[in-house]
Formats: sequence, structure tokens, C-alpha cells
Amino acid sequence: MSRPSLLALAFLFALLGAACEGSSRGGGGEASAIEVDALRHELFAAHVQPLPDPRPVSDELFLLGQALFFDKILSGNQDISCATCHLPQFSTGDGRTLSDGVHGIGLGPNRGGGEMIPRNSPPLFALHLKRELFWDGRVQGAGDVVSVPPAVTLTEAMRATFSPGLQVLASQAMLPAVSREEMRGMQGENPLGDLGDGYNSPGGRPDVTTHVWEQLTERLLDLPGYIALLSAAYPGVALQDFTFAHAGNAIAAFETRAFARTDSAFERFVRGDDAALTRAQVRGALVFFGMGCANCHSGSLLSDQDHHNIGLPQIGPGVSSNLFAFGPIPGWDTGRENATGFVQDRFKFRTPSLLNVALTGPYGHAGQFAELRDFVAHYKDVVLSNQQYDIQSNVSDPELVTMLTPNSSQVLATLDPRLPSVNDIDVDAVVEFLHALTARDASDLSDIVPASVPSGLPIF
Ligand code: HEC
Ligand code: HEC
Repeated sequence: MSRPSLLALAFLFALLGAACEGSSRGGGGEASAIEVDALRHELFAAHVQPLPDPRPVSDELFLLGQALFFDKILSGNQDISCATCHLPQFSTGDGRTLSDGVHGIGLGPNRGGGEMIPRNSPPLFALHLKRELFWDGRVQGAGDVVSVPPAVTLTEAMRATFSPGLQVLASQAMLPAVSREEMRGMQGENPLGDLGDGYNSPGGRPDVTTHVWEQLTERLLDLPGYIALLSAAYPGVALQDFTFAHAGNAIAAFETRAFARTDSAFERFVRGDDAALTRAQVRGALVFFGMGCANCHSGSLLSDQDHHNIGLPQIGPGVSSNLFAFGPIPGWDTGRENATGFVQDRFKFRTPSLLNVALTGPYGHAGQFAELRDFVAHYKDVVLSNQQYDIQSNVSDPELVTMLTPNSSQVLATLDPRLPSVNDIDVDAVVEFLHALTARDASDLSDIVPASVPSGLPIF
């Protein structure tokens, strides 16, 4: 486009913008054509393309997965389900700094008394695009090649059960029920807890993980409701041939369809609607991309799906098992190093997707920041932010509020070189943009809660 016509257009849009002031869209009217053009260049450079839809799954598989996701039957003490920590009313997170596992009572921020999980519960949006799962990417892969954490053995038959495209997610879905803290419970509490240490326990054994899966599968096959759902979802599979992989695969199918939720202003802009974003949001986006946020938050998920140390303070019990000769160091979360064993991966965490980010606080691998604005402000000066971190104003859990790990100097020694080195980020502008990532259909997820589950257990 030649310069005069661009200017003319800009003038026209300025007029239109003025006409739109006070309209229901608010936010200061429309962006100029120059701003829109500039943003389209940034999106191209950052590989932001329209979000692809998840692969279709059958209704039968979806219904089985939906039941399993909300059914406490998958937990040892039958008191916690996937949905307890991935709540529809908290946009598939739990609204907590750190998740509260078995023995806990209540929901969301009001839950308490359970096992403290060392990480923040991540949202489950757009899972079909994720090559890696968990904050440290310990389940990852592409196609049939999926790598899983220690003490987990997926047989050939299990891998063959997974639907194309669901392999990574289905593998992940088999794990929470084996973890003692998340769902299984402890020795002496229930038959699953009595099986010994498997996935996610120090020194855990793969055969124990397999036994837990076998007993869970038997539990499901004891219930007529699950026999019906399983048979409908997997026609032709004999009852004795069902494994827990069939459950994991169905949960994955449910998650990809239920949590696609892509109807955001930003997505409409990416798909070509120049007027989808308000002027303030376009300007915020230009700050975001111009400041180097997309050095890591790139692609359609606004995540490079790689791992970086951005200098967050460390809080809570941490995860560093099996890395140090003298045992884990309480409070240290060594992040990606836990999955790879490479010391250069210490304190690195997977770049989170920013889709629907305004709905999914607290933020960071351990929920270090309660407010989105404060998280963005962290990037102004990550060293100072880490050193001056105020745990009191971010954490309400009385047990956790004392658990700030004094390892700042170690964390700050290996900061990612791609972090922006500017202290004048327009935080408010960026926050405006981040709100444009909220999908209209993500604000209310009540449509995915089933009326009841086959075990008859209460859903919440
Ligand atoms: C006690 C709370 C809790 C329960 C129960 C729970 N989760 Fe999670 N979930 C978490 C936490 C915390 C993480 C992050 C853990 C980490 O990264 O180390 C997580 C991570 C995930 C992820 C990875 C998301 C991503 O982007 O990396 C998926 C998918 C998931 N959970 C699905 C499930 C399913 C399916 C179930 C039930 C079978 C379940 N969760 C049960 C708390 C829970
Ligand atoms: C060097 C890579 C990198 C850059 C550059 C970067 N981020 Fe991040 N971002 C990450 C990683 C990694 C995390 C998770 C860190 C953790 O939990 O330890 C994260 C977390 C976030 C979160 C919290 C999301 C959640 O769900 O917890 C927000 C918001 C965010 N970044 C926004 C930004 C903004 C705005 C910028 C630019 C000012 C930016 N990021 C620049 C890598 C980066």
C-alpha cells in the first residue's frame, strides 16, 4: 500500500474511531490502519496463525471421558476427581496458588487440609496443540513417540489404544490417579494406596503403577454404567481387553473437545477481522510483541513450548527429588532439570500458553503472583522483582505464606538471555492486550458438567 493511501486510511479510521467513542465496544475506539498493519507484521514474525480445531472425537468417547473426568471413583479414597483441581468455575484451574490434593475439603480457594501439591494447576485450554505437558514438560512427544516420567510403563497395547493425535494427552491422563498426593492416597488408607510406591513417589516402581491401573480398570468394570460407556466408546473390544489406556484416551478426547474455546477478540483478529480488537488492545499487542514477549510467547498458543528461567521467586515445597546426592532440597523447584537431568535446565519451566490468561490466575509454576498485572510488572526488572517479592500480598494459605525459599541468588544466576531488558514496559497496555485473549465461550464452562456420574458419587 502506498504511503498517501495509508495516511488517508489512517485518517478515515481516526474519524471512525472518534465516531465509535462511547459505543458498547469501548476501549477508545478502533486502531488506525497503520497500527493494524504493524500488528499483522508482528504476528507474522511471531508465527501466530489461526488456531486449528481439535480432531473430531466420537460422542461416545467424549461421554466416557466426561464421566471419568468428573468421577471421584478414580481416586483411592473416592474423594477427589480431575475436576476438583480443574474446576469449570475456575476456568479449568483451581484458583489456588498451589493445588490441594487428597484429604482436602472444599473447593477452589476455599479448599484446605489436603496434601500440598508443589505446583499451580494449569488451565486445560487448547490441549490439542501442546506437544509437552506439565510445567517441566515431563510428558512430551509427537505421534506415537511419547516419553513418560520414571516408574511408568506404557505397553504396546496401551499405545495402540490411543487415538491419533491424542497420544501425549492420553498418557498424561493416566498419571494423576497413580500419584499418591493427587488422587491415590497413602499406605493404609485404601486398597490402591496399599499397592506400594509407583509414579510420582521417590523410588517408585513401574509394576506398582501398572497394578494401580489394573485395579482402577476393575473398579470401572464393576459398574454397569461404565461397562455401557466403555462398550459404546470402543465397540468390538471384549471386556477382558480393557486397560486404563482406554480411560486415559477417553479423558483426552473429552478434554480436547470440551476445552477448545477459541472465540476471543484476538483470534478473530488473527483470522482477518481488522476491527476485532479495540485500539487499546492493538496498542497493547504492539507493546507485547515489540518488547520481546514473543521471544518465548510465540505461535498460536503464545508459547514456544520450550523452557526458560524467568527468575520467579520459589515458594512452597518444591520438586527436586532424585537430583542431588543428598536428597531433595526442600523448597527448591529445579523445573525442567527434573525431567532431563541436565543441570543447564535447572529452574527452567515451560512457557505457558496465554490463551484465556485473564481467567486463569494465580500465575507462575507455583502461583507466585495472584494478579495478572503484577506478573507482567515482574518483567520490568526480574532481578529486583524476585528480590523484593512480597509473599504476603500474593498468598493467602497460612501454611504456604511462610514458605518462601531463600534461593534467589541461585535462581537469578541463570536467567534466560531472551528476557527483555527494559524497565519501562507499559504494563497497563500489555494487560489490555492480554484481556483480548479471553474467549467468549471460555467464561462459562458449566455446559460441560454432567448431571451425574456412573459411580453415583457426588460430583463436587
Ligand atoms: C490435586 C489436584 C489435581 C488433580 C486431582 C488433577 N490434576 Fe491435573 N494438574 C494439577 C497440577 C498441579 C498440574 C501441574 C503439575 C506439574 O506441572 O507438575 C496438573 C497438570 C495437568 C495437565 C497438564 C496441562 C499442561 O498444560 O501442562 C493436564 C492435561 C491435567 N493436569 C489433567 C488432569 C486430569 C485428566 C486429571 C484426572 C485424571 C487431573 N489432571 C487431576 C492438579 C491436579
Ligand atoms: C525468556 C522467555 C520469556 C519471555 C521473553 C517472556 N516470558 Fe512470560 N513466561 C515465560 C515462562 C517460562 C513462564 C513461566 C515461568 C514459571 O512459571 O517459572 C512465563 C509466564 C508468563 C505469564 C504467566 C502465565 C500463567 O498462566 O502462569 C504471563 C502472564 C507472561 N509470562 C507474560 C509475559 C509478558 C507480558 C512478557 C513480555 C513483557 C513475557 N511474558 C516475556 C517465558 C517468557
